[in-house]
Amino acid sequence: MPAIVLVGAQWGDEGKGKATDLLGSSVDYVVKFNGGNNAGHTVVIEKDGKREKYALHLLPSGILSPNCVPVIGNGVVIDLSVLFEELDGLDGRGVDTSKLLVSANAHVIPSYNRTIDKVTERFLGKRRIGTTGRGIGPTYADKMNRIGIRIQDLYDEKILRQKVEAALEVKNQVLAKIYNTRAAAVDEVVTELLSYAARLAPMVADTSLVLSQALDRGDTVLFEAGQATLLDVDHGTYPYVTSSNAVAAGACTGSGVPPTRIDSVIAILKAYTTRVGEGPFPTELHDDNGEFLRKTGAEYGTTTGRPRRCGWMDTVVGRYATRINGVTDFVITKLDVLTGLPKVPICVAYDVDGVRHDEMPVNQTDFHHATPVYEELDGWWEDITHCRSFDELPANAQAYVMRVEELIGARVSAIGVGPGRDEIIERFPLKPAVAS
Ligand code: GDP
Ligand code: IMO
Ligand code: MG
Repeated sequence: MPAIVLVGAQWGDEGKGKATDLLGSSVDYVVKFNGGNNAGHTVVIEKDGKREKYALHLLPSGILSPNCVPVIGNGVVIDLSVLFEELDGLDGRGVDTSKLLVSANAHVIPSYNRTIDKVTERFLGKRRIGTTGRGIGPTYADKMNRIGIRIQDLYDEKILRQKVEAALEVKNQVLAKIYNTRAAAVDEVVTELLSYAARLAPMVADTSLVLSQALDRGDTVLFEAGQATLLDVDHGTYPYVTSSNAVAAGACTGSGVPPTRIDSVIAILKAYTTRVGEGPFPTELHDDNGEFLRKTGAEYGTTTGRPRRCGWMDTVVGRYATRINGVTDFVITKLDVLTGLPKVPICVAYDVDGVRHDEMPVNQTDFHHATPVYEELDGWWEDITHCRSFDELPANAQAYVMRVEELIGARVSAIGVGPGRDEIIERFPLKPAVAS
């Protein structure tokens, strides 16, 4: 009955999509439990000797594994036009999407929340978050304010209209009078949402029940987080975060599967650090090394195309991710990107106004003032993309992984050495053994 949670350990884009895809062939269900189309997961698959690239936003990466049932849980916010666009795109490339299940309790991103996301950012000016502009924050805010629209509302027109009216009562005042933009028309919103209902109907399910029954049967379920630990609304670098729980605990609230059923937590950790959008980032590099990481690692956003901010590995963040998520296994990705550097620095602690911090400072101001304390390891020059076992890695690359492992306090079970599906070193099995 293994239930595995997979999370990002840093600020997103660690390579969760690739890791999910790796596990996809041996799991029965992949569940997206938080976020929406703010996520961008790139999966590179070898097909008939050619490399094919898939960019997924709203759909769980497990959709690319033919035998896996992809599930969008209640914790996700869904832009229905994006959902169908993505499904059509995959159908057109011969991917079977017919098994997708969508929680009746998931919230819908209505068009007015995309508008509000963008105008709010514009008004925040210097204090903006750098959101993806997809309406994520306003939709989670509506959920908490109890004025959200859920998938199940599409099947009761009267209720849907009442809910849209209630949501727009205040929002339209704000849109017109404060932001000086066009108010949203109730009829237009309702008509658009209803236009998706028939196509969506066969996918709508009580996904908590489906998953519970699957686990009872002994099926394997993988919960795939969008975003990452430091973008989590409770445990991240607030307010520079997304609006959902991206940590392992979010898998339970976002799917209706209880904590007692979770067996293991896999965290994906990039061999260096990146961040998109605003907010503190202690190991950020503004020099040639930063440019080297961006270029070599192709660090441009899958969702917005923005250049990602780049910096060295931060093991204070890694250690924090171990603690907050209860990580059992790490996957270090993109180790190949570090090839060719004479020295590879690892941040082991922070200096905050002359005081050493081995753990994440509890205070936001301290985190903004944190300067990294580095340990420098010797680099390696050999091409590692063909390595398939830990022993094949150059000694210095092995030493880098082992030092990071020691500092983050959980074992490194796999190492990514390239974007391709097979470009990975599996050091220890990632799936817990099924009791016979
Ligand atoms: P996600 O949001 O966590 O799924 O990550 P993204 O897909 O946004 O960004 C990760 C990028 O790194 C993608 O372009 C992947 O194809 C790529 N990638 C994943 N693992 C590796 C690796 O081990 N080496 C290299 N060079 N690229 C990788
Ligand atoms: P994946 O799943 C990296 C960032 C945005 C912004 C902040 C809030 O691909 O790792 P939002 O639109 O969510 O309200 O924006 O969060 N952000 C991400 N950064 N990877 C992501 O997803 C992200 N999803 C949101 O850039 O700083
Ligand atoms: Mg991404």
